[in-house]
Amino acid sequence: MQTMWTLQNSLCQIMKKTVHTLKCKKARYGQYTKTYPVLDGSIPSVCEHVFEENLRNSEACIKRYSELLCKVRKGGGENAILRHTQRNKKLLVRERLRMLLDDESFLELSPFAGFDLPYGDVPAAGCLTGIGKICGVWCVFVANDATVKGGTIYPISVKKQLRAQQIAIQNRLLLVYLVDSGGAFLPLQAELFPDQSHGGRIFYNEAIMSAMKIPQVAVVCGSCTAGGAYVPTMAEETVIVDKIGSLFLAGPPLVKAATGEDISPEDLGGARMHSKVSGCVDHFASSEKAAYECVRNIILTLNYELPPEKTLEYDDPLYSAEELLGLAPQGYRYTLNIKLILSRLVDGSRFQEFKAEYGTTLVTGFAHVEGHLVGIVANNGELTHDASLKGSHFVQLCSQRSIPILFLQNTAPHAAEPTSLSQCGRSFDPNFLFLWPNARVALMDARHMSMFQHAGNDDCTELNHLKEKLDQESSAFYSSARLWDDGIILPQNSRKVLGQCLSIMKQQKYQIVSLQHYPVIRL
Ligand code: COA
Repeated sequence: MQTMWTLQNSLCQIMKKTVHTLKCKKARYGQYTKTYPVLDGSIPSVCEHVFEENLRNSEACIKRYSELLCKVRKGGGENAILRHTQRNKKLLVRERLRMLLDDESFLELSPFAGFDLPYGDVPAAGCLTGIGKICGVWCVFVANDATVKGGTIYPISVKKQLRAQQIAIQNRLLLVYLVDSGGAFLPLQAELFPDQSHGGRIFYNEAIMSAMKIPQVAVVCGSCTAGGAYVPTMAEETVIVDKIGSLFLAGPPLVKAATGEDISPEDLGGARMHSKVSGCVDHFASSEKAAYECVRNIILTLNYELPPEKTLEYDDPLYSAEELLGLAPQGYRYTLNIKLILSRLVDGSRFQEFKAEYGTTLVTGFAHVEGHLVGIVANNGELTHDASLKGSHFVQLCSQRSIPILFLQNTAPHAAEPTSLSQCGRSFDPNFLFLWPNARVALMDARHMSMFQHAGNDDCTELNHLKEKLDQESSAFYSSARLWDDGIILPQNSRKVLGQCLSIMKQQKYQIVSLQHYPVIRL
């Protein structure tokens, strides 16, 4: 597994009182952090050819990344966009987010989810998810893109929404749903509806999150049928947009088929009906703009006590982030010393290394990223016995001190023992997990497949086919399409993304939590 980034909260949770004490101490600490030793990030001239090889590979990967992103941003395509904006008179999903969020610097999650799946391409899995600020508060959002088959829910859309909810739970972030969905994508209903982690889990989670005091607000900003109708009705507070939003378990054609009654969408489940008669929604908005303003006002009732907005002061790294493209390894044979990467990620290129001389194939130590203190666990070769011991010692230190850990994962492929699971992969529940576009995620390097031939398998065709499959399935894009990670980020943007994640993880300190543990029960 190469160059995978995970961020994990340390195991210990700090009590509020301790937080206060730490905050007071921090003011005094500030002036001392600049004494961590400075890393030498200059690239040795003997490594220039490796740098050049890596650079060429990174450029090719980024080209593919940009092309795919451009395709994904077009959603369901031109005709669907025209139908959405001109016939249905709705705003596009990114325009909605622009109105809802404080600014455009939100962290989008898994934009490549749904790419080239066995059942076809589903741009961004038919819904945008991410984390952005509303009235200064970090919020997770889940926003259907109705240009993709009417916002219907594919199996991958279920997975993406469940992941967004998991992020909200783990980081205690409130969740805003912009719902514009025809419910289940019927041709794949068996793969998205009946099982434990299928569609119903989204509604179940809404109740659980409410009981955990994780607020959830929904906007009905399109035609929401069946599964699309449960999300807003299970949310704690719901806004509906006049003439655009509607909610029903079955739409007018089904009513006609079942009862013979002719009824308009407005009368069956429009904004006025649900705000005046059924009480299913709590706020009537005359336009989309008014609806997003209403959500912002709701957020202001959530009783957060955020610290006064002050920008953290920090030094930039001493070396250019652009050079990370030449340091992002093309393969394990092309890996350079991890400290060259660290020196381009951390504040002032300063790093307080732990056990520098012991188990050197794993680098551990403390640094700051955009002013946030982190423990770093970074592979620097094969994970040996000593390196593993050192890693576990260091993780416990971070846990004792309640310091988030940044894992920089680049585990050597080992012919006999697959090690890619040995760091903080998805199964370890990191708060966030990102890949660089050059990353490869597999139990085994395709080059090691030849050992099976020696073991008596002389069918070259089958082996070559398997190699090809392994190669294709280990690409970062294959991983991200299936939501094995939270997205692909460019090496040069890593510091910004890490800074955002660390700031997001910190917010839970400021949520007012009372002792009651029951959900909001709607009408
Ligand atoms: N499953 C699969 N495909 C669906 C679908 C569903 N539930 N609902 C809509 N689609 C497809 C349409 O076939 C169409 O595909 P196309 O672009 O290849 O022609 C596309 O989504 C857009 O649908 P369309 O009806 O043309 O757009 P619209 O904006 O006028 O309406 C909906 C969108 C979702 C409101 C409307 O299609 C609808 O009410 N669908 C039925 C919803 C339903 O009954 N769901 C029950 C799920 S259990």
